[in-house]
Amino acid sequence: MGTHILPLGLVALICCSVAFAFEPSPLLDFCVADLTSPVKVNGLVCKDPMLVQANDFFFSGLHIPGNTTNPVGSNVTPVNVAQIAGLNTLGISMVRLDYAPWGINPPHTHPRATEILTVVEGTLYVGFVTSNPENRLIAKVLEKGDVFVFPVGLIHFQRNVGYGNAVAIGALSGQNPGVITIANAVFGSNPPIASEVLIKAFQVEKNIVDRLQAQF
Ligand SMILES: *[C@@H]1O[C@H](CO)[C@@H](O)[C@H](O)[C@H]1NC(C)=O
Repeated sequence: MGTHILPLGLVALICCSVAFAFEPSPLLDFCVADLTSPVKVNGLVCKDPMLVQANDFFFSGLHIPGNTTNPVGSNVTPVNVAQIAGLNTLGISMVRLDYAPWGINPPHTHPRATEILTVVEGTLYVGFVTSNPENRLIAKVLEKGDVFVFPVGLIHFQRNVGYGNAVAIGALSGQNPGVITIANAVFGSNPPIASEVLIKAFQVEKNIVDRLQAQF
């Protein structure tokens, strides 16, 4: 009987902490994700702590530039719970961002994390937009060593406005921040959003919506 009470208590604790904290606080030293487990929880199931190794907390490769040969001229190398199983339940992750000259990281949002970005190389014009009804753009040009914050859920972007490549490191307050790229989500959903919806939403002609949908 006692063995049944403890897991239920833990479940109750996890549920309660969801109610008053943004990401549940850890209940253990660590909970290295068992990526093979079929069990679905808010996060990932822990593997046996005795089987945990240093490599469960390790990632190598953030020194390698991402390939920016693509239509937007940027690349994101994620280091989240998918790359480091030990990040499970810890509420933190990071990314390396590479930008070709004039490359952009298109407007996007992280539904589950605030981001704090450090420019390692180059010059970036960055910004985010506040929610309705103000939709105020808060933007700034950053130089090497500058740090900027994108609050959770808000649409943000970066553009390389320097003369060479730019590199930034982003830290995020979630093990699995998620990304919604606005253009891809709105014009490239699968199946597509009915063009009547987009025509009215964006106040444009159907041919423009068709073109945007074809693009994504
Ligand atoms: C970078 O990506 C482009 C487009 O996918 C590809 O043609 C090119 O070979 C890649 N370069 C490297 C170094 O992987």
